[in-house]
Amino acid sequence: MYYNLSMKTLIFGGAFDPPHREHLNILLEASKAVNFDRVVIVPTFNPPHKEDSVIDFDTRVALIDKLFKKSGINYAVDDIEKQRGDGNYAVEVVSALKEKYGGELYYLIGGDSLVNIETWHKPELLFPLVTLVVCGRDGYFGLDEKIEYLKNKYGAKIIKINYVGSGISSTLVRLRLNLGLSVDVEGLELIKDKFNKYDGILKQLKSYQSDDLYFHSRAVAYRAVEIARHHRLNIDLNKAFLAGLLHDNAKQRLSLDGFIVPSDAVGSPVLHQFLGSVKAKRDFKIEDSEILSAINYHTTGRANMTTLEKLVYCADMLSEDRPCIENLLKVIMTDFEIGFRSCLASSYFYVLSKKRGMYPLTQQAFDYYIKDAKFPL
Ligand SMILES: [Fe+2]
Ligand SMILES: [Fe+2]
Repeated sequence: MYYNLSMKTLIFGGAFDPPHREHLNILLEASKAVNFDRVVIVPTFNPPHKEDSVIDFDTRVALIDKLFKKSGINYAVDDIEKQRGDGNYAVEVVSALKEKYGGELYYLIGGDSLVNIETWHKPELLFPLVTLVVCGRDGYFGLDEKIEYLKNKYGAKIIKINYVGSGISSTLVRLRLNLGLSVDVEGLELIKDKFNKYDGILKQLKSYQSDDLYFHSRAVAYRAVEIARHHRLNIDLNKAFLAGLLHDNAKQRLSLDGFIVPSDAVGSPVLHQFLGSVKAKRDFKIEDSEILSAINYHTTGRANMTTLEKLVYCADMLSEDRPCIENLLKVIMTDFEIGFRSCLASSYFYVLSKKRGMYPLTQQAFDYYIKDAKFPL
């Protein structure tokens, strides 16, 4: 390979597990900020903290090629991390790359990584080697302050690109693949069959539901996790997933089966939430009271809801199978609490306009959070 010492090389490291459209978009945005001559993509060998990873290194490289080949970007994939084996520190890899490629090195990282960069191994040795190109796509709180701080303390060279992306990440892509939802991934055929983490529970749920309801259930599970991750809500993502997935498990099987439910719910559209809770316990062996409670109030809401209850309530209204959700979705992605109250109000006034009877729990939720709300958001 020919190496020109005056070349500007952008290092784009990551797990690429799997690579997706957002990686390309970020790179295109970075190319506007830095006039680099080439990109060297450096997949991590063994993605740390990714227990649900099933894509091996060579397949990830094949997927990267499929994604970037069409882009016109002058790129190469460097398998240095595979050659070096497990447990590489960024500073070691970057200095090896500096030696190999020469010229000016730029290193593209996410805003979350920059915020935590002082926890990396010997960051003070990394800063002199590269100019960091930081993607602030998620609007990390305090990113600008952190950049100033690192510049002052270490003399770090940092360029920030303001990229507002779709919020998709490899973790969310893997979740969609495991749920059998559509994804925007080049070379999907190479990996599709590997994502079967939830096949057991999905098969069971499907047996209780029409195609539309089954799609809705998976879309709610996805939305619940997506919102929880976006806001870093202090809840267990597995609980968000299960509560979202199973919230309507009883919607199309309304026999009481001897269960005691509130008498005023029988024959009403809210019956399925109460049955959903007890049947999730009986049929899916869900013992967790927080999950069961989120299912139990997903239609009506109630006063003084838990975060998980609010999350499933909103995800149910804002899943991708619902029409006209863009505005409410924007609100909740900006502010969870305001988003929740907007969902509650929207649902309340819809029921009111239809002149359906208002279920007491819904009235109580409305009074608590909106009509009599005496506490600031
Ligand atoms: Fe429901
Ligand atoms: Fe639902």
